[in-house]
Amino acid sequence: MACFSKLFQAVGLTMLAQQVLAAQLYALHYTDGVHQLEFSEENGLNVVSVTVHGSPMLAWLTWDHANRNLYGIDEADGGLISWAAAEDNTLTETANVPALGSGVSNALYGGADGDGFLANAHYSTSAITTFKLPLGADSAQLQEFTYTMDGPGPNPGRQEAPHPHHIIPDPTGTFLVAPDLGADILRTYAVNKESGELTDCGGPSTQPGAGPRHAVFWTGASSRVNRRQGAGTKLFIADELSKTVSRWAVAYNGASGCPDLTLEQTLTPYADNATAIEGTKVGEIKVFGNHLYISNRNDKSFGEKNCSLSHYTLSETGEMTWSEISPAHGWYPRTFDINAAGDLVAIGDQTTSNVAIVKRDVETGKLGDLVGNLRIGVEGTPESEDGLSAVLWIDEGA
Ligand SMILES: *[C@@H]1O[C@H](CO)[C@@H](O)[C@H](O)[C@H]1NC(C)=O
Ligand SMILES: *[C@@H]1O[C@H](CO)[C@@H](O)[C@H](O)[C@H]1NC(C)=O
Repeated sequence: MACFSKLFQAVGLTMLAQQVLAAQLYALHYTDGVHQLEFSEENGLNVVSVTVHGSPMLAWLTWDHANRNLYGIDEADGGLISWAAAEDNTLTETANVPALGSGVSNALYGGADGDGFLANAHYSTSAITTFKLPLGADSAQLQEFTYTMDGPGPNPGRQEAPHPHHIIPDPTGTFLVAPDLGADILRTYAVNKESGELTDCGGPSTQPGAGPRHAVFWTGASSRVNRRQGAGTKLFIADELSKTVSRWAVAYNGASGCPDLTLEQTLTPYADNATAIEGTKVGEIKVFGNHLYISNRNDKSFGEKNCSLSHYTLSETGEMTWSEISPAHGWYPRTFDINAAGDLVAIGDQTTSNVAIVKRDVETGKLGDLVGNLRIGVEGTPESEDGLSAVLWIDEGA
C-alpha cells in the first residue's frame, strides 16, 4: 500500500511538473474566437480550447491576472466582453456590454489595486470611454471624451480625424496616456483612483505625421524607487505612420495628476537609421528590462510574407541603441508578448493568422529560434480587419 502510494505520488508529481512546464496563452482571432493555447518545447504549440465570441470584429484582449478576468473590445460595434478564467484557464463569458463603436484597445486602471475600471480607445469614433468593473448586465459608460480636428493632418488618408489607438496607465497609476494616431497627440488623463473619473489634461503633439499607435512605459531595470515615485520614467511610442519609435521623458506635476511629456529621441526600425519601405506600419511595442521591441508590419524584411521585429537596447537613462531585427515568421505582426520569465516571445501575425513562439536570450535580449508555430482560425486578407488580432501569455500581469 505504502509502495502504491509512493508510486501514485511520483506519477502525480510528474503530471504536476508537466503542467507547470506547459505555458499557456490566449490568442484572439477577429471573428473565430479566443483560442487557449499550450506551449512546451517537446510538444510545440497546441490548441486547448476555443471560446467562440460571436462578436463581429474582436480586436483586443486585456488580461487581469490578479482577478483572472479577460476583457475584449470590438472594432465594429465596440461591444465589451468579459470572461472569467477557470483554474485550467478555460473561459466562461460573464458579460457582453454594448459600447461606443470602433474599440481597438483597453486597459485596467484606478481602484485600490489598479484594476477597478476599464478605459477604452475608440478609433473611428475618435473617443475614449470608461466603465466601472466588474462588467455586468447593468454596466453603463462612466465617461466619454470625443475629439474633432479642424482639418486633415499631414497624412490625409489616415489622419482625416482623431484616432485614439491605445490607452495605458503610467507606472504610478496617476495618469493614462492615449496615443492619437489621427491627431498626432499623446492625450493624457489624470486619474481619480477612487471614482475612476478622468480629467482630460490635453497632451503634447508628436512630430507631424508620426501617427502614434501604441505606448509602453519604462522605469529602468530593477528600480522600485523609480516605479513608486516616477523618477526617470520614460514613455516609448510606436509611431505607425512615420515608421519610427520615439522616447519621451515623463515629468510628474504633483497633485494636478497631469504629466509633462517631452520628446527626446526618434529612431527608425533599422541599422544606420535607414527608412522603412513604403507600406510598412510600425505596430506593437514592448519593453523587458533594458530591451525594447517593436513590430514592423508589412516591411518584407525576411520575405514577401515574413515581416520583422526590431530590438533596441536601452542605456540607464533610456537612450535607445538599435541592436538587430529578427523574423516575425509570418505576415503583419500586429501583436506580440514576452513571457514573465523573459525567455519566450509569442508573435501574432495578423494576415497569415499564426502565432509564432521564438526564444529570447535573457542576457542579450536577442530573439532566437522558432520553437512553436500554429495557424489560428482562417487566414486574413491583406490590409483588412480579419485574421489574428491579439496574443498574450496567461502568466503575465495586466
Ligand atoms: C532617425 O530617423 C528619424 C526619422 O527620419 C529622425 O527623426 C531622427 O532624427 C533620426 N535619428 C538619427 C540619430 O539620425
Ligand atoms: C522567415 O525568415 C526566417 C529567416 O530567414 C526563416 O528562417 C523563416 O523560415 C521564414 N518564415 C517564413 C514563414 O517565411
